[in-house]
Amino acid sequence: MTRYREFHRRSIEAPEDFWRDEARRIHWETPFETVLDRSNPPFARWFVGGRTNLCHNAVDRHLAERAQQNALVYISTETGIERRYTYAELYAEINRMAAVMRSLGVKRGDRVLIYLPMIPEAVFAMLACARLGAIHSVVFGGFAAPSLAARIDDAKPALIVTADAGARGGKVIDYTPLVDEALARAQHKPPHVLRIDRQLAPERLNASYLVDYEPLREQFFDVHVPCEWLESNEPSYVLYTSGTTGRPKGVVRDVGGYAVALAASMEYIFEGRAGDTMFTASDIGWVVGHSYIIYAPLIAGLTTVMYEGTPIRPDGGIWWRLVEQHRINLMFTAPTALRVLKKQDPALLKKSDLSSLRTLFLAGEPLDEPTASWITDALGKPVVDNYWQTETGWPMLAIQRGVEALPQKLGSPGVPVYGYNLTLRNEQTGDVCAPGEKGVITLGYPLPPGCMSTVWGDDRRFVSTYWSSVPDQQLYSTFDWGIQDDNGYVTILGRTDDVINVAGHRLGTREIEEALSSHAAVAEVAVVGVADPLKGQVALAFVVLRDAERYAPEDARAKLEADLAATVDRQLGAIARPARVHMVAMLPKTRSGKLLRRAIAALAEGRDPGDLPTIEDASALQQVRDALTAGGKA
Ligand code: PRX
Repeated sequence: MTRYREFHRRSIEAPEDFWRDEARRIHWETPFETVLDRSNPPFARWFVGGRTNLCHNAVDRHLAERAQQNALVYISTETGIERRYTYAELYAEINRMAAVMRSLGVKRGDRVLIYLPMIPEAVFAMLACARLGAIHSVVFGGFAAPSLAARIDDAKPALIVTADAGARGGKVIDYTPLVDEALARAQHKPPHVLRIDRQLAPERLNASYLVDYEPLREQFFDVHVPCEWLESNEPSYVLYTSGTTGRPKGVVRDVGGYAVALAASMEYIFEGRAGDTMFTASDIGWVVGHSYIIYAPLIAGLTTVMYEGTPIRPDGGIWWRLVEQHRINLMFTAPTALRVLKKQDPALLKKSDLSSLRTLFLAGEPLDEPTASWITDALGKPVVDNYWQTETGWPMLAIQRGVEALPQKLGSPGVPVYGYNLTLRNEQTGDVCAPGEKGVITLGYPLPPGCMSTVWGDDRRFVSTYWSSVPDQQLYSTFDWGIQDDNGYVTILGRTDDVINVAGHRLGTREIEEALSSHAAVAEVAVVGVADPLKGQVALAFVVLRDAERYAPEDARAKLEADLAATVDRQLGAIARPARVHMVAMLPKTRSGKLLRRAIAALAEGRDPGDLPTIEDASALQQVRDALTAGGKA
């Protein structure tokens, strides 16, 4: 472990020296004056005074050496479309998109909300924003109109980019009606909505604010748009993520620090070299998509594979065939996808030639031991679990094979990554935990480059949410429980807050509760996450009705349950839909009225809820038990 230990130690003890060296990986139009500004903790500013541009680093910079290398390979098993873009072609498309955006009034510092399915234009749009110095905010295509409206009002975009439709599992999802509804709900009205017309939606919605992309693209076909040279700490994007409250937070990322952190991670964690091909099966609406479908592979000169479709259509062998056909070297996905594949037909993996594949990376949710063992044995290649968050932008825990190929420990995403002063702390005292003792995973100040710089429009929320849970200490809380062994390997034990993780999707139980509460029949509601063999976790809802009698008959109750599920679909999106909605007469609460969510979750998982001295009425627990027995466990 010497090499890793020494590497990590230097990154923590001499961060300025460490990151000054790493900063050479990217192009600086103007060199930075200061590596790190710590004058205003917990805020940290990296590479102060340096001017650079993410699009230049991801694309323009490679034109001299790899103009004819594929930059982006796009495969859609939904539409049967496959497209390849060399770096030169990607450059041209980004310039067209940037010229179109500029013609619609987008300028440096403006926000552009991107609500797109997995199509190449999403990459063009994100990089066009980077080129113009506009701040993109990508909203996952699975989110419903009210979620979209909330993000429009928070980010106040100058432009929305959307498509006529997305497709998933063979089903077409119309996007423009959702945007239309979101705009009707939102206070903020962006002047234009740019639509990529895939000709998928059965009916064309036409509204005066809608502008079709294709005619404009033609108009600006040969236009070159220069890169805006941004100060390293200007924002590059805002990405909303769920937390304890019902209101998602806009995670803000900088420019220079992000580029440097991603470039370094490609060597030390992913071992990706220019010319390699990387397939990250995530979505551009999530942080993994931002960092490892788009920015990191392109900054490092790789070919990135973008995939629209599911892992099991046309069959569970599709991803492995893609590896063979495209000679994929690095693959990155979430454990749920593997559990799904394992359940389908694990032997399908053996039918493809996987010799090009060097390493499989997994992140986003706990990797269970059976899945880890299965895939490691089946592939016969390293499987690298890595732990991080939307907030950090790149891994915090991993075996950093580019530093030292330490052995994997089943069930653990590995050891702290260079740059992160990661410690486990006692929740009450803030003391560092002894090996084997459970604690909250925290990060010391300053966070390394690439991590969130603030909450969009709300510096105070950044401080109060992330930096205030450990008394009297300057520590960032991840809100994850963990346990560390003698060798430094950390195992993740779940969230300390009300965030749940369904199939690798991060959801706030409060958001789901708010959606359910909007239904007229609901008086009170508690949503908890419970363990699920396939999805990792699923949401269960416990609802107290205003008029229980009305829903006493079996059929009325079944109809209400379906209705409540549909309410969540409409408010948040189908990904947030609870697996079951149970009706109870009363919810377990403390005497001060706080919901005892952990006790409910324990019961739902068949565990003992433990001593609850502050419970107001212990019979509420029995209610929950009865509902679970009557309704069958999730
Ligand atoms: O609880 C941790 C879990 O996912 C959360 C972050 O989710 P998100 O913001 O969507 O970012 C995902 C980036 C990969 C974390 O707080 N989590 C993430 N990776 C792992 C994980 N839990 C266990 N093992 C992991 N490798």
